[in-house]
Order: sequence, then structure tokens, then C-alpha cells
Amino acid sequence: MELGLSGKFALVTGGSHGIGLACAKRLAQEGCHVAICSRSQARLDAAIAELKTHGVKLLAVAADMLDEHAADRVMDVVDREWGGVQILVNNVGGGGRWGKEIVEDTDLNVWSEVYEKNAMAAVRFTRRCLPHMRRAKWGRVVAITSIYGGKEGAGRPWFTMAKAAETGLMKSLSSMTYLVREGITFNSVAPGGIYIPGTGFEEEKKRDPERFQRVVDELYPLGRLGTPEEVAAVVAFLCSTEASLVNGANITVDGGQSRAF
Ligand SMILES: NC(=O)c1ccc[n+]([C@@H]2O[C@H](COP(=O)([O-])OP(=O)(O)OC[C@H]3O[C@@H](n4cnc5c(N)ncnc54)[C@H](OP(=O)(O)O)[C@@H]3O)[C@@H](O)[C@H]2O)c1
Repeated sequence: MELGLSGKFALVTGGSHGIGLACAKRLAQEGCHVAICSRSQARLDAAIAELKTHGVKLLAVAADMLDEHAADRVMDVVDREWGGVQILVNNVGGGGRWGKEIVEDTDLNVWSEVYEKNAMAAVRFTRRCLPHMRRAKWGRVVAITSIYGGKEGAGRPWFTMAKAAETGLMKSLSSMTYLVREGITFNSVAPGGIYIPGTGFEEEKKRDPERFQRVVDELYPLGRLGTPEEVAAVVAFLCSTEASLVNGANITVDGGQSRAF
């Protein structure tokens, strides 16, 4: 399928690792110019080295989304270099394992930091990207949420709350006629467990591989977790010209893990 992405400009937040990097790679493979941001300059450099093979324009900006001014600093660079982007993937987030099992023993900072990193980062980037999308009369905004931010509802409360807010943000914007009639769509992609080397699932697997596989067999109908590339494939479609009627959707990408329907 021709996705019509060649020559478009995209920003993937948290694009130096995991799902974000897979999205950046997939968009670059489709001919998109890609900007990424995250905290570690070393990770950004490694990601840019991988993305370079696609021969598109690239930008990398180091910024910590727990700093309320970081999104503006990233967007100042993007706007100065490219005049804006037509595609925004609000991927930065996480915190599903932060805090303690006992809710009352979990510091209030955890709630606010998880909200900042997920929901407020999406708000800040989306606000900054919209003027250019309106001028371009075309835009795509996709948020990487979680099955826990929708009907599934489980997960640690600060994470579920922040992801539900992000899902609600996309849904609300998708009904704003002054935006969508300019050709801008807003959607959420809700992954289930995605196996990413260097993160929590790998640690669990290393600690006790047999137990890990038992749990996976029990919880995941496919008998495995998802891959970042499987999420990126759906994101690329949503960003494409082919997805013009998909607006306000919350698409589960979990191999059947969630029980809600
Ligand atoms: N993996 C899963 O099973 C799963 C399931 C459902 C939803 N998700 C969602 O998918 C998204 C990506 O998760 P992932 O699993 O791909 O994570 P990951 O592999 O840990 O990658 C996270 C990316 O975000 C950057 N990042 C982290 N904290 C940041 C901060 N404070 N400021 C700026 N950048 C930051 C990281 O780079 P630096 O560390 O250098 O900053 C990295 O580029 C998140 O929104 C997550 O909630 C993941």
C-alpha cells in the first residue's frame, strides 16, 4: 500500500528507543523526514545513526519531558529548522511500573510526574504543532497510550489515569471541526505488553525465564508479547493519506491481551 508519507515532516517524541524508535524508523522508511527527542544524547546519536540509512532529513533534540519548558525548546528547534511538522507521534510516556503496590504508600510526585510525562507532554507538543498543520491543511496526530488507558482500565492508577487523559485528549480534538476540516486527524494507539530490550520485561525474563514464559502463556493469547515494529506499522497507517477517515479512534494493538471489547 502506498502510504503517501514521502516528503512529509514528522516528530516522534521519545523517538530514540522502543516503540518511538520503531515509529521513527518506519516513517523514515516511508520517506518521511523525522525529528526525535528524548533525554540521553547518546541514545539520540545511536538512533540517528540507524535512521541515517533511509536518506531522509533528521533532527534530534535532547530534552526531559519532566521539565515543563522542554517541549517548547524542542518545538523551537523543529520550527526554526523545518517550519513545523505535519505528523506528530506523541509517544513519550511510561511510568506503568513506577510507585508502590500500595497506593497510599506511593508518593504524590509519582502521580504528577507520570501525568506530566504522558498527558501533559502530549498536550504541549500538540498545541505547538497545530498551527503549522492548519497552515499546511493536513496533519496527523497519534498518541501512544495503553490498553490500560481505555476500557481495560487495570494497571497502576497514576498510569491508567494519565493514559486515559491522553486518549481523551485525542478524542476531544477529533471532534473539533475547525481542526478536522483542515485535514487533521487525531487517534490513539493502545498497545498491550510490548517486549523491548533494555526495559522491564527483559529484566523480568532474565530474572526467571520459566516464570516469565508461564505468565506470558497465561495472559497473552499469542503466547508472546508484541514487538515495537508491530505497533509502528499501525502508527504508520494512521499517519498515512490512506487513513483520512480514521479520526477519533482508539486502536488496540495487543494480540488479544485485553479482555474488554
Ligand atoms: N512497552 C510496552 O509494553 C508499552 C505498553 C503500552 C504502552 N506503552 C507506551 O509506549 C510508549 C513508549 O514506551 P516504550 O516501552 O517504547 O519505552 P522505552 O523503550 O523505554 O523508550 C522510551 C523513550 O522515551 C524517552 N524518554 C523516557 N523518559 C523521558 C523523559 N522524561 N523525557 C524525554 N524523553 C524520555 C527514552 O529516551 P531517554 O531515556 O534517553 O529519555 C526513549 O527514547 C510510552 O508512552 C509507553 O507508556 C508501552
